[in-house]
Amino acid sequence: MSAMESPKGETSKTYNSAFMKACRREAVPHTPVWFMRQAGRSLPEYRKVREGTAMLESCMMPELVTEITLQPVRRHDVDAAIYFSDIVVPLKAIGIDLDIKPGIGPVVEQPIRTRADLARLRDLTPEDVPYVTEAIGMLTAELGEKPLIGFAGAPFTLASYLVEGGPSRNHENTKAMMYGDPQLWADLLDRLAEITGAFLKVQIEAGASAVQLFDSWVGALSPADYRAQVMPASSKVFDAVASYGVPRIHFGVGTGELLGLLGEAGADVVGVDWRVPLDEAARRVGPGKALQGNLDPAVLFSTTEAVEARTRQVLDAAAGLEGHIFNLGHGVLPTTDPDALTRLVEYVHTQTAK
Ligand code: CP3
Repeated sequence: MSAMESPKGETSKTYNSAFMKACRREAVPHTPVWFMRQAGRSLPEYRKVREGTAMLESCMMPELVTEITLQPVRRHDVDAAIYFSDIVVPLKAIGIDLDIKPGIGPVVEQPIRTRADLARLRDLTPEDVPYVTEAIGMLTAELGEKPLIGFAGAPFTLASYLVEGGPSRNHENTKAMMYGDPQLWADLLDRLAEITGAFLKVQIEAGASAVQLFDSWVGALSPADYRAQVMPASSKVFDAVASYGVPRIHFGVGTGELLGLLGEAGADVVGVDWRVPLDEAARRVGPGKALQGNLDPAVLFSTTEAVEARTRQVLDAAAGLEGHIFNLGHGVLPTTDPDALTRLVEYVHTQTAK
């Protein structure tokens, strides 16, 4: 690969984009915007191309992945694309018997509960996910200067699905293992960190400009438990990709008490949900990190005036930050009006244009 084609360094096509600059806490022409779960069910064109194809199956079809990833970029003019996939794809790729049930989420046929079960979590190699490499190659060619964000589920959130066997409100079985058999828990998280690190490497090698680690459900833990029993595994994931120099984003829901630790785990950018204003989040995270967030996704169901007023509050709270990437505080809700998202991108761009 020649220096011109390098996806990572200063010679890369995406290096000077607003998104990459904000991640590096440099001056930006406007505040960059993208939305978690921007590729998906809120778009009629998404529902159309997905018709008759199961979620996990579609994640393994490079042309379809490319089309779905590009749909929100074309429609909303967001500043970054997020790779269309799901956090459970690497687990499926190493042979875990799971499915994504519509309206429910990931369901694991045989949950992981014992030491013997750990043997089912083998290492992931690039050959396990050829469709990822192929799709990202097509995407980066199409996207040009617009960055592609790769992603993975963090060890805790993946462990929750594997141990519970599906989505869980209280994470009872997960916590039972964590508190009752700390060594088994540590070994499980370490296995997941290996798999996740390898999966992010595949995406970066293929051309992803940045990566986000989704620890969606880690807000269920106290800071002390997070530090002792989760942070080592998440840090291992961030360390695995540190040498590439691509921005690493870390996000979870309900993590007000964990924001400092999410940064400390090894992120360059900390994602914030809507419960903590960004100026307060910056105090909790400390210097040297950019922040991403944090409009309540439910606000988009209100009037345009209310959306703009709430967005203004987010931008005002972000005014003193070292770097800010505008996003929602969690993923786009499935019944969101896509036009409200398009208007929101335009509003943030015009309000913050230098
Ligand atoms: O952000 C994007 O647009 C890229 C695509 C993406 C999906 N899932 C597609 C998807 C991303 C980044 C994810 C991550 C993901 N998956 C997370 C972390 C983000 C978060 O929201 O906290 C989690 C916890 C999952 C697990 C998962 N997969 C859930 C909870 C669901 C929803 C189940 C449902 O149908 O209500 C899924 C399925 C899923 N992943 C869909 C999409 C578009 C819907 C399935 C479909 O369209 O048929």
